[in-house]
Amino acid sequence: MKNLLTQDNFEQPLLETSRLTLEPIVESHAEEICELFSDPKLHEFVPQEPISLETAEARCTRWAKRKSPDGKELWLNWAAREKATSRIVAHFQAGLKDDAIATIGYMVARASHNKGIATEGLRAIIDYLKYNLEVIEARAWVDSRNIASHRLAAKLGMVQVELIKDADFFKGATSDEFVFSRKFEAYELQRVDLTSVALVQSILEAAPQYLLNVDGVTSNPNDGHDTLTALPPGCSLDQKHVLVLRLNGAAVGVADVIQGYPDPTTAFIGLMLLREDRQKGGSGRMFYQKIEEKIRRELDCNRIRLSVVDSNPVIPFWEKMGFTLTGESSPHQGKTIVSTKRIMEKRLS
Ligand SMILES: CC(C)(COP(=O)(O)OP(=O)(O)OC[C@H]1O[C@@H](n2cnc3c(N)ncnc32)[C@H](O)[C@@H]1OP(=O)(O)O)[C@@H](O)C(=O)NCCC(=O)NCCS
Repeated sequence: MKNLLTQDNFEQPLLETSRLTLEPIVESHAEEICELFSDPKLHEFVPQEPISLETAEARCTRWAKRKSPDGKELWLNWAAREKATSRIVAHFQAGLKDDAIATIGYMVARASHNKGIATEGLRAIIDYLKYNLEVIEARAWVDSRNIASHRLAAKLGMVQVELIKDADFFKGATSDEFVFSRKFEAYELQRVDLTSVALVQSILEAAPQYLLNVDGVTSNPNDGHDTLTALPPGCSLDQKHVLVLRLNGAAVGVADVIQGYPDPTTAFIGLMLLREDRQKGGSGRMFYQKIEEKIRRELDCNRIRLSVVDSNPVIPFWEKMGFTLTGESSPHQGKTIVSTKRIMEKRLS
């Protein structure tokens, strides 16, 4: 995880989903938060009670600092405003220590129950935690009687990992708690579009030797854009899968796969590139395996083709991944490099 606890200028972002704007909570949210928390029915499975305006003000002031008073935990709190009504309909919370494990909490106004509000808001928050803060696991502590919350955890891809007997005593009874958890896969492929042009450009710029090998220059300001838009003849953008390669949440590489080129059951890997500081550590193999799995299962192809330029010495890598040279070749003209492009392919059984 990025070391956010030592950063003084950490800015919690505003997040958006189709129905909600997730606003980082500040002091001025106090009245709306007080109203949201005023429903006693919402507190059935939590020890707290509805709060006064002063308590809401004190909480919002504390949350606006984004850190626990001892500075050991990042406290992120969002007020979810429904776009259609401009009303605050939920409160979402994520606490993070330096072990990169996030604990999430949530409360949705009763009038907004059963509409998928918590799922929608928390999915956006979990994506933010995973992709931006490089969190490795999200957890939620849930009262064992709270069935709606169990269902929500399942929708968020969480599984029950622990039962804590007699975890708490409140409102005249002891309560057991389930711990739900979702561990994020170390190696993930994230399909991106033109909105990620800056990210893709930054990855390409972190691998200057590749560009030097195939083009003869070390950077090209339009490469990110070209990677996201360039298509072989006769193909359309929906056949193009630009994938950011994420290792424990961090963007470490990019790949470009064209589905159904040059024929419907073939996928063409236009590029697979890792940042130079992430090469030669086994990640190439792991990401390639993920890409192959995606091509086989999701893109429904049984053959993969790619081309390698002689001036970029990576044929041994592709051979290790099971590719062979087909014997087809054509001239390659980079910015200042003239070389030969060779086709390699692999049949998937
Ligand atoms: C090609 C690339 C994706 C490989 O990723 P990587 O993380 O360096 O590869 P790995 O560490 O997983 O290597 C897997 C195996 O291939 C071998 N290998 C990797 N690159 C190699 C190379 N250039 N020459 C010879 N062997 C190579 C490794 O030694 C390893 O072998 P082993 O499993 O027997 O130990 C990466 O080097 C890269 O991004 N290069 C720049 C972009 C590029 O050239 N892409 C290919 C365009 S066709």
